[in-house]
Amino acid sequence: MADVRGILTRRLDSAWKRGEPSALLADWAERIAALRAVSADVAEAAEGYAVGIAGADDAAAIQTVRNAALSRENGAFTEALALGPSLSVDEKRVLGKGLNLGKALIEAVEKAKREALERSKEDANALDVTLPGRRPFVGRPHVLAQVRDELLDLFHGLGFSVYTSPEVELDTYNFGKLNFAPDHPARDAHDTYFVNPDVVLRTHTSPGWVRAMEERKPPLRLVFPGRVYRAEAVDASHMDQFHQMDGLYVGKNVSMADLKATLNTFARAIYRRDVPTRIIPIYFPFVEPGVQMDVQCATCKGTGRYKDESGERRCPVCKGTKWVEVLGAGMVHPNVFRAVGYDPEEVTGFAFGMGLERITMGRHGIHEIRQFLENDTRFLSQF
Ligand code: PHE
Repeated sequence: MADVRGILTRRLDSAWKRGEPSALLADWAERIAALRAVSADVAEAAEGYAVGIAGADDAAAIQTVRNAALSRENGAFTEALALGPSLSVDEKRVLGKGLNLGKALIEAVEKAKREALERSKEDANALDVTLPGRRPFVGRPHVLAQVRDELLDLFHGLGFSVYTSPEVELDTYNFGKLNFAPDHPARDAHDTYFVNPDVVLRTHTSPGWVRAMEERKPPLRLVFPGRVYRAEAVDASHMDQFHQMDGLYVGKNVSMADLKATLNTFARAIYRRDVPTRIIPIYFPFVEPGVQMDVQCATCKGTGRYKDESGERRCPVCKGTKWVEVLGAGMVHPNVFRAVGYDPEEVTGFAFGMGLERITMGRHGIHEIRQFLENDTRFLSQF
């Protein structure tokens, strides 16, 4: 009989690194035993090639061993198969079966080895210590919260404490006790979200004064930060919810001079040290006299004109008025004191209320109020 064993083992190379096929194939032991039962010669050869593939360091080394065993031109298994015609029918049947099993086994080890190499490449990538680290995402306070906190800090320094009150408020606190006439237009369903006829979403933070005064005795020095709601058509400068901060100072002999000093301190701290301000009369039901404080327009520096590449024109921010409104204020109306049980002959007080979005937009040159609520980190991470 032809030298099947010689042909099959001739191309094994003792220079190949040896590996452990059973580490690659879970059913290695059963398969090699089954093969041995058919043909010990084929089993011995198949094991030799499998050990070489298992020990290969890279794809090229795998290919070398594989070719030695299975190459179509001169692989050991191909040559052994070519012995067929010289064998008896029985020998041919046994050899054919053995060669098929052996070939399948070598191919299975090869496939498992290639996959193992891929995996270890990925593992190596995962552990590439030369890659720059991934920075963890770090959040930050919302820009409105930053401005609110800066204001709280400032007013804390002036002796004001924080008082918070509900966003869902009784109509009497939002309006009645603040001296709104029953037919005042701000009560109109157009401006106010009503929960029911007696309950509204507060349209300003001023109802906090009423709650604080009903709860406490003068003197009071409080600020009232919070969210407010108005049924407004939404556009780049209007939203139906925004933020305010009111302030209230009630005591003996609190005067308009105290109000002006407080507001100027605020403007210098929040805008700039030498910002020109003005106070002009305006009506609010809950203060008398009522005023509005303006600061000089920072965009046109108080000229009312604005120049850029496309020429000179009216300042788009102050609309040529040279001033931008920043807050409402005034001396607390005697009717408000009466509504909370304070004696207007005994105490006086000033109050003010400002919009946080307006201050923040002016400071950072933001022209789109809706961005505050969109939670787009490309916007928020700029501040
Ligand atoms: N509450 C007023 C508003 O929302 C602002 C204000 C507060 C005016 C305090 C005067 C005094 O417009």
